[in-house]
Amino acid sequence: SYPIVVLISGSGSNLQALIDQSLQGQLDINICAVISNKAEAYGLERAKLAGIPTHTLDHKSFASRDEFDAELQTMIDQYQPKLVVLAGFMRILTETFAKHYEGRMLNIHPSLLPKYKGLNTHQRAIDAGEKEHGVSVHFVSPELDGGAVILQASTAIAEEDTAASLANKVHSLEHIIYPLAVKWFSEKRLTFHDGKAFLNGSVLPENGVL
Ligand code: GAR
Repeated sequence: SYPIVVLISGSGSNLQALIDQSLQGQLDINICAVISNKAEAYGLERAKLAGIPTHTLDHKSFASRDEFDAELQTMIDQYQPKLVVLAGFMRILTETFAKHYEGRMLNIHPSLLPKYKGLNTHQRAIDAGEKEHGVSVHFVSPELDGGAVILQASTAIAEEDTAASLANKVHSLEHIIYPLAVKWFSEKRLTFHDGKAFLNGSVLPENGVL
């Protein structure tokens, strides 16, 4: 089955969604390794429970972003994955690293891109008085949260929503759309050319598939 490497920094609930779907036979992938930049990331436990090799690469033990990314690249490439999946990996990537995996690295970002790139997306959407919020899966480009969008899912913001309640709603959407995008990529239905995402040979619009 299809070799992928997953990068995490935290809880790893998106990693879990990929593990579960692959165990249930809905996703024909082989998660060769899970790599975290944080030793305490709970996602490492999830990986170990599923029998997946894990590595921690602490960014604080590198003198520069370039050196960290170079080591990360070496670690990933020893598995020769066909796809690299960023699942709550909270590091800004160097241009060299992003270009090396161009067209074969996905990220999930908790906003309706191009809105709210960066951090604290839920609170920022509430503060801006948005009626709608959501999540985007996109190809990774050197520009932070700026690569071609593949698909989005949205949810209404209710009067009583807090950043935490909104994060919960968004998480349940994430666990549906991320495995789907990975499935499309592994089936070669999702492709990337000239900075754009294509599904079944057709270029996707700016907001991806809705
Ligand atoms: C997810 O909400 C993901 O969208 C977000 O981190 C969370 C990770 O959750 N990613 C980013 O903010 C990327 N900049 P998880 O560890 O439970 O999968």
